[in-house]
Amino acid sequence: MTAFVRNQWYVAAYAREVGRDLLARTILGEPLVLYRTTEGEPVALADRCVHRRYPLSESRLEGDTIVCGYHGFTYDKGGACVFVPGQTRIPRTARVASYPVVEQDSFIWVWIGDRDLADPALIPRAPWLDDSRYTVVCGMEPLAARYQLLVDNLMDLSHETYLHGGYIGTPEVADTPITTEVDEENAVIHVSRHMADAECPPFYAKSTGIQGRITRWQDIEYHPPCLYLLHSRIAPVGVLPNEDGTDPNGFHVEIVYAITPETENTTLDFWAVARDFALDDEEVTAFLAESNRTVVMQDVVALDLLEKVIANEPEGYQELSINIDTGALAARRILKRMVAESSAAASVRSSQAVPS
Ligand code: FES
Ligand SMILES: [Fe+2]
Repeated sequence: MTAFVRNQWYVAAYAREVGRDLLARTILGEPLVLYRTTEGEPVALADRCVHRRYPLSESRLEGDTIVCGYHGFTYDKGGACVFVPGQTRIPRTARVASYPVVEQDSFIWVWIGDRDLADPALIPRAPWLDDSRYTVVCGMEPLAARYQLLVDNLMDLSHETYLHGGYIGTPEVADTPITTEVDEENAVIHVSRHMADAECPPFYAKSTGIQGRITRWQDIEYHPPCLYLLHSRIAPVGVLPNEDGTDPNGFHVEIVYAITPETENTTLDFWAVARDFALDDEEVTAFLAESNRTVVMQDVVALDLLEKVIANEPEGYQELSINIDTGALAARRILKRMVAESSAAASVRSSQAVPS
């Protein structure tokens, strides 16, 4: 059984990546081609010509249509073939799948599953990424590892102390206990770690300018399977938000990961860091972009290693879990439920399908 949750929105690309050049991306094992119409509307089609499978992403746009680069079959933005060479009759089956697409919060979201269920209201939000009160740095790293390993990694930030020492890790991260809450109804997992008096890692010392120790809060909000938010608050020790919730003396960094399975064993790791301070400071922007990319690459190297270990391990190997794993275990449980629901829905649908 595949471990994908098919009936879900996933980030396929940053909005700025999709334009009048054809972009190839594989999502949940489905090769897609992405582009924008002349009006700017984003489009996602299956990246395989119905004639002889030529990748449409290696073809060319003519207006809003794609002309296959092999023999010229031409598809409109809905995937219907509107021209075939050498004959006027277009075969009824000459169409490629088109996928629902939504542009929101600087991302292009795509729905691979049952299109009747593709409700844009279900897309989790990351509003900071498209808000002038924040400055954003972002990137995407391909992972040669299954998406579940990235989820495990992000849900347990105690690894910052060991894997990211000198960047974002300090002893207090591993030492401070977490609280985990699962909102079963909305399928959201919250993991919090509030450090009252912690060393300030270079990532925050250089960007905020705080000298000395800090109060550091990490509040994770994971919307499985596709979106992970880390609300990070940093302030000089003892500086807390006001009672009315305003927080003029705190520094806020919203760290966003869109987790998109590419294949069963590879993942697209979209990362973004939005800050509400030093908005126009280009040095801070360059520093955070470089530092965060380094941190992400430290995770990429570790997760790619884990994927290799898993590929070679004997059937039935058992891990050992401890207190720090509570958030990751909750995420695994919810993901397992979502995969089962998604597979059940797919099999009901295929048993109802009328043979054509
Ligand atoms: S493969 Fe596309 S037209 Fe032949
Ligand atoms: Fe990490």
